[in-house]
Amino acid sequence: MGGADLQDKVAVVTGAAQGIGRAIAQLLGRHAAKIVVNDISEQQAATTAAVIRKQGGTAIEVIADVTNAADVERMISVVVRKFSTIHILVNNAGVLRPTRLPHISEAEWDLVLSSNLKGTFLCSQAVLPYFVEQRWGRIVNVSSTAGKSVSTLGGVHYTAAKAGVLGLTRAFAKEMARYNIRVNAVCPGLVNTEMVRNNVSSEQLQSFVAGFPISRMCEPEEVAELVSFLLSDGSNYITGASFDINGGDLMI
Ligand SMILES: NC(=O)c1ccc[n+]([C@@H]2O[C@H](COP(=O)([O-])OP(=O)(O)OC[C@H]3O[C@@H](n4cnc5c(N)ncnc54)[C@H](O)[C@@H]3O)[C@@H](O)[C@H]2O)c1
Repeated sequence: MGGADLQDKVAVVTGAAQGIGRAIAQLLGRHAAKIVVNDISEQQAATTAAVIRKQGGTAIEVIADVTNAADVERMISVVVRKFSTIHILVNNAGVLRPTRLPHISEAEWDLVLSSNLKGTFLCSQAVLPYFVEQRWGRIVNVSSTAGKSVSTLGGVHYTAAKAGVLGLTRAFAKEMARYNIRVNAVCPGLVNTEMVRNNVSSEQLQSFVAGFPISRMCEPEEVAELVSFLLSDGSNYITGASFDINGGDLMI
């Protein structure tokens, strides 16, 4: 898929220390975008950025908690000081908890909603002045199959947060299209990352994937390819949309 048009674009990828975010950051780095590796995990974020630089790309890591407005503002000012502006935001950071409904505490509800939904709002709002001024901006939000159906692994808070991300995507896209800002979402099924490995036994995993039309997990690099397309000029007429990447597990 296209990627040449991402050259020299400044791209912030949240939660990019590992998993899907890391794969997105690395692919955009190979397309010669200037990458900002955001995470709360300092050491791993530094490693992701170092790998991108080793592959000949440009990358810095910025440690910031996307649920905290002051942290997000600080991150954006670091990025603008270093690269002058921002062109691309991938809202990937998120937390899943498998807790069943009767046992979800208020604190856990807040953690799951804020990391997945509030963080997406705060980061999107923070990049807006730059996007509006340059009349160019691209956002991809990482939702989930959970956002359209019901999470297999996560609790009701996770499903609610990911559905919220899809609503935010549509409303943001509609309000900002006049400034040449496009906002889309991806909805992955089961992706081979720590998030899944930490929450399911390998027996459970096997029984899940056996039920998928494409009977395996998605690899993070496959999500990255879809995100890269949604950021490229090849998708210039697409905004406010969400794209399933789930091996046929959910067809709607
Ligand atoms: N793995 C899957 O099957 C799957 C499926 C659908 C959607 N998703 C979504 O994809 C995204 C990435 O998931 P993953 O599987 O790579 O998970 P992961 O747990 O492997 O990685 C998530 C990263 O986000 C970071 N993070 C968490 N809270 C943060 C915060 N407040 N600020 C900054 N960084 C923070 C973590 O430190 C971690 O590095 C998440 O939004 C997740 O909900 C994952």
